[in-house]
Amino acid sequence: MTRSPDADRLAEVARCVPKAELHLHIEGSLEPELAFELAGRNGVELGFADVEALRAAYSFTDLQSFLDIYYQGASVLQTEKDFYDLMAAYLRRAHGDGVVRAELFFDPQTHTERGIGYDTFMPGFLAAMADAEAATGISTDLILCFLRHLSGDDALATFEEATEYHDKIIGVGLDSGEVGNPPERFVEAFNKAAEVGLHRVAHAGEEGPPAYIWGALDELGVERIDHGVRCEEDDALIDRLVAEQMPLTVCPLSNLALRVVDDLADHNIGRLADRGVLVTVNADDPAYFGGYIAENYHQTIEALGLAPATAIQWARNSIEATFATDDQKRTWFDSIDSYVENLDATWGFTA
Ligand code: HPA
Ligand code: ZN
Repeated sequence: MTRSPDADRLAEVARCVPKAELHLHIEGSLEPELAFELAGRNGVELGFADVEALRAAYSFTDLQSFLDIYYQGASVLQTEKDFYDLMAAYLRRAHGDGVVRAELFFDPQTHTERGIGYDTFMPGFLAAMADAEAATGISTDLILCFLRHLSGDDALATFEEATEYHDKIIGVGLDSGEVGNPPERFVEAFNKAAEVGLHRVAHAGEEGPPAYIWGALDELGVERIDHGVRCEEDDALIDRLVAEQMPLTVCPLSNLALRVVDDLADHNIGRLADRGVLVTVNADDPAYFGGYIAENYHQTIEALGLAPATAIQWARNSIEATFATDDQKRTWFDSIDSYVENLDATWGFTA
């Protein structure tokens, strides 16, 4: 197939514009090839004949149907080296997709429940992050997520178990099955995190109602909403998000794969941006949902018929929404500006 210059240009901008990844579950970056390699290394039975059979199982009807496979996949992660390899593979891809800053979710309870402790996964993650930063300059930090299908007490115990690593993470988050697991149950754990100076984010309004977004804002004190797309059902909530310039970390290919939307062309990210909501675009669980961050930019812009320059705006929004210092943000804004100037020179492209 011959591609038009416009399609090539969009692909290039989506991949190359410097950007931040703010909604990425590291366990959700486990590609089938690596899953099989680790299963072999650790003598774990994956329950699928081969890579193709596993990939073919990635057909979901909703969030829970995905989570069942996602938690099963995580069972191959056992040693410090496994966690290193997982993180290293993701950061290589992210760098290739123009990511200059990644604030990454991890799910400690998925591992501690299997008897694999912080002393195994944290050194693996942190060593891979340090090596990637030294090799490519990518800036990374970790956000510890509580599994909301478990209890508030479990979350609190998980946070306390991590005490030795509190200075190695930048924040806490809330993920897993949303409906029936409202944010209020996690107030105590989030308050503890705030007491030690950590940032707070939460998944809300992915499958759950706008009330869960209000709860995340008012009860958990979050500084970003993960997904948040159901805010559109509540005008007062939109007004609040706009007034506070509260970032949403939207994941369009995830929303498509988990049937939050039936068609990417129906995604509401363009409408939300038009109303003044600060939207960012992210990958969520790219090994399962068919695309890393650049694919999310590219496919969403194409499906919605948005201008290629939308990618530049999303990149700027992503930097604005990071928990990095003002100095770091300035450096990344400057690199976006240089990138755009260069595009102007080569393509007469005006952002
Ligand atoms: N939603 C909720 N929990 C998750 C997700 C998600 O998209 N990915 C991994 N855990
Ligand atoms: Zn998520």
